[in-house]
Amino acid sequence: MMDHVRVTRKVRDTPTVFSLYFNWNRDVEPGQFVMVWVPGHSEVPMSLSQTGKEKCLTIKMYGDTTKAMDALEPGDFIYIRGPYGKPFSRVKGKTLLIGGGSGMASLRPMINEDSTGILAARGKEELLFENEFHDGKAICVTEDGSRGIKGIITAGIDSVDLSGFSMIYVCGPERMLYAVYKNIQGKTENVEFSLERSMKCGIGLCDSCSVDGFEICRDGPTFNMKQVSEMEEFGRTRLDRSGKRIYF
Ligand code: FES
Repeated sequence: MMDHVRVTRKVRDTPTVFSLYFNWNRDVEPGQFVMVWVPGHSEVPMSLSQTGKEKCLTIKMYGDTTKAMDALEPGDFIYIRGPYGKPFSRVKGKTLLIGGGSGMASLRPMINEDSTGILAARGKEELLFENEFHDGKAICVTEDGSRGIKGIITAGIDSVDLSGFSMIYVCGPERMLYAVYKNIQGKTENVEFSLERSMKCGIGLCDSCSVDGFEICRDGPTFNMKQVSEMEEFGRTRLDRSGKRIYF
């Protein structure tokens, strides 16, 4: 069932990322996703960056629907159905949240006093939610060296002792997920990745999000280390909305 919600606040987080806040009377677990529709544009899957009573969609502009969402202002409506999919596992103890680019949006609801973040972006202006980590427990990695460690996200991972974390959560572009997977492989099994694919139904019926026998919408979007190791397509290819194969 599709709900319509009214935007209450709009915040520009980085030059290319913005957040729309709204009240929505549904329970959502961190890591689940919703299907979002703006009239006249394609419905798209998105994770929520805030899951309490006030909810939030944090959006990077990359296509028609997200550009249409950037034109929305407080008082305008967006249309949402869900939530769908498997949430992140909840664990006790210290957690590590690894977010590349706007990937930190889906991880934001998991931030608490026990979490450390590794945030990666091209430059400091695109680092997302650094200030939401408690006691400055955010390690920044930038490709241009404008903040924190200069390099790619694996340089941030190499700077921490992974054995100190009960669970590691990873979200971002799939090439980045794959680089993290290869870096962490053999060091710990306590890792969950959030995968993205083109989605149409969102409920396991249309097969548009299929990856090596997994439906990302129904079996994911969160997957553990063992599951991603079974996906030959992971980090290599995906299908676009028309079914054409795209190589990462
Ligand atoms: S979006 Fe239709 S099966 Fe996943």
